[in-house]
Amino acid sequence: MSTTPTALRLDRLLANLGYGARKQVQQMVHDGLVVLDGERIEDADRRISVAPDLPARMTVDGEPLDPPFPLTLMLNKPLGVTCSRKEAGPLVFGLFPQRWQVREPALSTVGRLDKETSGLLLLTDDGALLHKIISPKNHVPKRYHVTLKWPMHGGEAAAFASGTLMLDGEDKPLLPATLETFSPTTACVTLMEGRYHQVRRMFAAVRNRVVGLHRDRIGRLQLPDDLAPGAYRILTPENLAAILPA
Ligand code: URA
Repeated sequence: MSTTPTALRLDRLLANLGYGARKQVQQMVHDGLVVLDGERIEDADRRISVAPDLPARMTVDGEPLDPPFPLTLMLNKPLGVTCSRKEAGPLVFGLFPQRWQVREPALSTVGRLDKETSGLLLLTDDGALLHKIISPKNHVPKRYHVTLKWPMHGGEAAAFASGTLMLDGEDKPLLPATLETFSPTTACVTLMEGRYHQVRRMFAAVRNRVVGLHRDRIGRLQLPDDLAPGAYRILTPENLAAILPA
């Protein structure tokens, strides 16, 4: 994980958290709107230690400070929102508070889910963590629940496990993936990589079509049952350890 700066000027911290341009946040400080440990801060250039407990100690205009960096979230991605700014339609970023959309460093999705895929999506402003989770070298499994248009014929699990399955238009075989079937048209597939539309293309390669796709697990981190579609939660150190065991 990347190292967190130990201290930042207050005006820089607030500007980076999206509270306004440097001049605006200096004005907010001079107006007495920023309180640390129960006392108004007068000085916009005071250096502040950036620690996870800061929102419990600092308020801005009476509200707890937004979570500082590094910030990693799990979202229960609903159907119909896109991860890529290049695609049409509402973006996953629109599910978060407006201010979070102008944070520096910015939040990015950890890999992507298609517009018509739901479930566990991570977002982070920590570039090193993002690369660790998506790199196939780190073997972080991702599990998808799949609903198919046609019954499976029985050879799918062996094809996916083979390490030789080629996707249309690619020149490198897929890493072995596991398939657990629940019924002729429902199954779970676990991947160690994340190629473009991978699950849909894997089933296309075995002459089927995915009609429902939901990710419920990354590493040992399970999408919580009580996290409704569109809702999100900040990851705890325990959640992070479940994704990337030491
Ligand atoms: N595979 C897909 O086809 N789509 C996703 O959203 C994720 C994995």
